[in-house]
Amino acid sequence: MTATLITNIGELTTNVGTPDDPCGTRRDAAVLIEGERIAWVGSAAEARTPQDVRVEVVDAEGRAVIPGFVDSHTHLVFAGDRADEFEARMTGTPYAAGGIRRTVAATREASDDALRRRLRAFVAELHAQGTTTFEIKTGYGLTVADEERLARLAAEVTPEVTFLGAHVVPQEYADRRDDYVELVCGAMLRACAPHSRWVDVFCETGAFTPEESRRVLAAGIAHGLEPRVHGNQLGLGEGVRLAVAMGAASVDHCTYLDDADVAALASSLTVATLLPGVEFSTRQPYPDARRLIDAGVTVAIASDCNPGSSFTSSMPLMIALAVREMGMTPAEAVWAATAGGARALRRDDVGAIAPGLRADLVLLDAPTRTHLAYRPGVPLVGRVWKDGAAL
Ligand code: NIG
Ligand code: FE
Repeated sequence: MTATLITNIGELTTNVGTPDDPCGTRRDAAVLIEGERIAWVGSAAEARTPQDVRVEVVDAEGRAVIPGFVDSHTHLVFAGDRADEFEARMTGTPYAAGGIRRTVAATREASDDALRRRLRAFVAELHAQGTTTFEIKTGYGLTVADEERLARLAAEVTPEVTFLGAHVVPQEYADRRDDYVELVCGAMLRACAPHSRWVDVFCETGAFTPEESRRVLAAGIAHGLEPRVHGNQLGLGEGVRLAVAMGAASVDHCTYLDDADVAALASSLTVATLLPGVEFSTRQPYPDARRLIDAGVTVAIASDCNPGSSFTSSMPLMIALAVREMGMTPAEAVWAATAGGARALRRDDVGAIAPGLRADLVLLDAPTRTHLAYRPGVPLVGRVWKDGAAL
């Protein structure tokens, strides 16, 4: 077993918090990693190196350490490029769900190896930016065979795989959407369930109706998958209330909410996952995180990295946008990008720094976590450890 002692940490975000300080902030701190787990957290003055193992000592020189980012919403298995749509949006063309079909066409053409190479490059991109846990959705295959291979490829790099056969109705089913929903709930689900933990549906005008969405989620649950929902991205709708009614771990986007949606979320265990990269890239109004947090809703932030609505994997950018545009404090935004993401994935082994948890940590090239919002666009991720190993 190897061990690492990170000491002289100026500001440690543990997320083992109190109502006054949900980030569980410690000053002049140290963390001992043994094997894949955190063994000890305490003050730098009390830090001791274990005698029986080889220990690497890392002097943080007063810099900040935070838990690795937990990106609970990505779509990383795809081929092709939609930069032309982004360019058109910047001069006024609105975003529409239909663009998904272009990525579906390119993805169906791509070989497993081509998809795998690109996926692995994305994983390296995430790690380099401090993301140590990430979810990946299918949804750019939309045939039984293509969805199965997207789920299988995603499962090669993360345990958090989400079956999203109900991303959009593919072109070839445009006139018989009922048949497509039946396919998703039947053969496609059976092929993907062995590789997946989660089932998701895009409940939105232009994608799936609330009733279709309910059928898809119920079928997934019957196959042992846990539900999560894309909802309320492009306008008001029933996505949030459906997610709460189905006991979803998270409902993602939440850009347009009425008071009943906020109340439903506040009295549920469903996390509201906000995806500010989407509003940035589609020129929509940002979701109101302040309203949700003040109502008592648990909020996560995630990248939604995908080629259509948000082609960024940068959690530091999400933090900066959440603070600048969504009314979150820097501490709330960092919590939402770590502990919040862990809640959205129902994970209690990541998203915090405490003995027994996975040793997933980021040493920032900055004295405090606030710098993630204060210095937008600057690469502040210094060193990253995942499962105790330096990446
Ligand atoms: O989360 N909302 C649905 N899916 C993606 C968009 C995918 C695309 O445009 O290709 C999202 O924004
Ligand atoms: Fe998405």
